Amino acid sequence: MEEYTHGHQAGDGQAYHEVSGLQESRLIDEFLKPIPGETILDIGCGTGHATLKVASLVGESGRVVGVDPGESRIDVARAELLRQPSLVPIVTYMKGSVKEAMPLAPFDAVFSNDVFHWFERADRQAIVTDIYKCLKPAGRLAIYLLTPQTQAKCLGVDAFHLSKPTSDIESASGIKFDPPAVWSHILTEAGFLVEVCEEKDEEVKAPNIEAALTGLEIYVPKFKIHRQLLRDSDIEI
Ligand SMILES: C[S@@+](CC[C@H](N)C(=O)[O-])C[C@H]1O[C@@H](n2cnc3c(N)ncnc32)[C@H](O)[C@@H]1O
Repeated sequence: MEEYTHGHQAGDGQAYHEVSGLQESRLIDEFLKPIPGETILDIGCGTGHATLKVASLVGESGRVVGVDPGESRIDVARAELLRQPSLVPIVTYMKGSVKEAMPLAPFDAVFSNDVFHWFERADRQAIVTDIYKCLKPAGRLAIYLLTPQTQAKCLGVDAFHLSKPTSDIESASGIKFDPPAVWSHILTEAGFLVEVCEEKDEEVKAPNIEAALTGLEIYVPKFKIHRQLLRDSDIEI
């Protein structure tokens, strides 16, 4: 098993939780499509917005595992879970990433919202290969990630303007932007079949400047976000 780092370390969990919301419901409703009773892994669960939604969809016969390397995000996620007692038996949160979740495999499905672009390039193939190993035969993977168009389409929002050339965004933000073809290759190498690969043209804004400065990663209010959606299915029988 190849070793890899956790890469990007997330900022404060509580501040992030307060300014973020369920960032992506389409990923869950239209692509992941959780089925009651399923066991599902949420990679980079943050403070658990999506994890709890998926937990409510798999129901009491299902199980959802959320992993995130950000300790304070997992702390907030656990506290939020306690506010919904009916979901407590369904959800397990763990600090870490895919490797830490592997002992709880196999999963019917894995999903990840706005996380893959944080993976170190050198680690990606090993991470995706571990995800593949975590899935049951015919298991599925649904992800959103940021693509390079983000760098090209810059947007001044309220007080925000680009202060650096677009070529510096990657080093300033820590995000690793790569085009759809790169990700398709990595996923295919791991054994996945790409069923759907869509690009979205979506603007993401922080609610106000304080929210942007205290909680969200710096890139969020500044740029028009294009995302690529991948949903893969392993058709081994
Ligand atoms: C933009 S947040 C998205 C959080 C959550 N998925 C949501 O939709 O609310 C990105 C998250 O990715 C996590 N992350 C960064 N590197 C990671 C890695 N190597 N493995 C798993 N999660 C990672 C960060 O800690 C952060 O919480």
